[in-house]
Amino acid sequence: KQSFSELKQRAYKNIDDRKKTVAGDPYRLHFHIMPLVGLLNDPNGFVFYKGKYHMFYQWNPFQTEHGAKFWGHAVSDDLVHWEEAPIALAPDQDYDKNGCYSGSAVVFMEKLYVFYTGNVKNEHGKRESYQCLAVSEDGIHFEKKGPVIHVPGGYTAHFRDPKVFEKDGQWYMVLGAQTENEQGEAVVYTSSDLENWSFQGALAGSGHNGLKDFGYMWECPDLFELNGHEILVVCPQGLSPKGFEYNNIFQSGYFTGKVDYEKVSFEHRNFVELDRGFDFYAPQTTEDASGRRILVGWMGNADDGESTHPTIKYEWIHALTLPRELQWKEGKLLQHPVEELQLLREDEIQHTGVVVSEEAVVLPRVNGQVFELEIAIKNLAAASFSVEIGEKSTFHYDAKAQVCTFQRGAFSGNSVESRHCVLESLQNIRIFKDTSSIEIFINNGEEVFTSRVFEDPAIERVYFFAKDGHVTMDVQKWSIRRVT
Ligand code: FRU
Repeated sequence: KQSFSELKQRAYKNIDDRKKTVAGDPYRLHFHIMPLVGLLNDPNGFVFYKGKYHMFYQWNPFQTEHGAKFWGHAVSDDLVHWEEAPIALAPDQDYDKNGCYSGSAVVFMEKLYVFYTGNVKNEHGKRESYQCLAVSEDGIHFEKKGPVIHVPGGYTAHFRDPKVFEKDGQWYMVLGAQTENEQGEAVVYTSSDLENWSFQGALAGSGHNGLKDFGYMWECPDLFELNGHEILVVCPQGLSPKGFEYNNIFQSGYFTGKVDYEKVSFEHRNFVELDRGFDFYAPQTTEDASGRRILVGWMGNADDGESTHPTIKYEWIHALTLPRELQWKEGKLLQHPVEELQLLREDEIQHTGVVVSEEAVVLPRVNGQVFELEIAIKNLAAASFSVEIGEKSTFHYDAKAQVCTFQRGAFSGNSVESRHCVLESLQNIRIFKDTSSIEIFINNGEEVFTSRVFEDPAIERVYFFAKDGHVTMDVQKWSIRRVT
């Protein structure tokens, strides 16, 4: 075991030693949160505190592999310009020595209360899990208060990722859990002072509310209200692929319905995936001062080809997604890139009334490696419509089959791979392309495809084409200023 200052010093030394290597990577992103070195995974403790947005993240500063996680920290005034802050938490205690795992933050009496999972592998190699509290008065320095919750009877040590929120003068915590029968659940605790917590039971899970065999473990739950609808975001592990669904190693999605806080039950509808792309997991939301519900996810997924990422040889891996504002509209959860992203726009280009058919259309100055592209479909009178981006990435809409597809080049070898979703009509597409990522928002955020892409950076073209007919569209394109 090492002290906080020893661990911090080692981490900062590693950042220093590898600075040049990391900076030399052409795939280093321009407008996403990334680790300075090593591996980043889940967003944690996302909160608006004393006038600033705070984003923490799971971080192994020593390797591009998972390990004893730290909480890295970035601070922002506007959700797009992020400044790296000192390391917030390091695995320096007996109860968190194998990782300060994921968790959340709330503001209480002007202090920042941070809850996280202390991950321990004991001397017999067995996992232990403690839900821990740390408190800060400035949002930068944290004082660890130790475990506030131990694993209750009936559950395994896969018990983690506390998300705390306040409702009607009471504190609630939802946690990801695995029962002794290896069923995934989201369980609830309550507290009046954030220090003493009492177990209330399972809110949802495999074996509840008509769900059967719905994962052996649920990670990173988040429960909030949107326009009078209760939404439980959760990441089940162990779902098998089913048609277009559940094709990534672990899933991330939500249930909507009605929570009964007295009875601790949740009458909900079917699970819906939040993102249709290759690289999205463990999202977390917060409510900001203006009441917006904002979500950020990990632009990655555990074990999903991590060892084949080309960034590994540059000593870093993974990033966070862009922040998205959530809205509930006409029975649908919509995800919009936060409007502050417009601050990064440069060099606007517009083309209106562009007609696209069989022959590929290239528009003047609509190209690049890093850009935002908005396509408004004015008329779709074709069997399909495609946008080709760079070397191998393609957005494709099959109007007959009502299927949307994103395709990218595989991380190694020459093959391509794709993900799909059903979409009844195509109205608009908004694409955020960074050096090695792409986020595609369709029909005002009805569907989103998020993926890393490692393709030839020299190929900067954007092609449009349609099959069996024509498509009329308006196109707007901006360059995006580098802020990393
Ligand atoms: C999700 C997760 C969490 C855990 C963290 C560890 O990606 O496995 O359940 O707290 O990552 O880094």
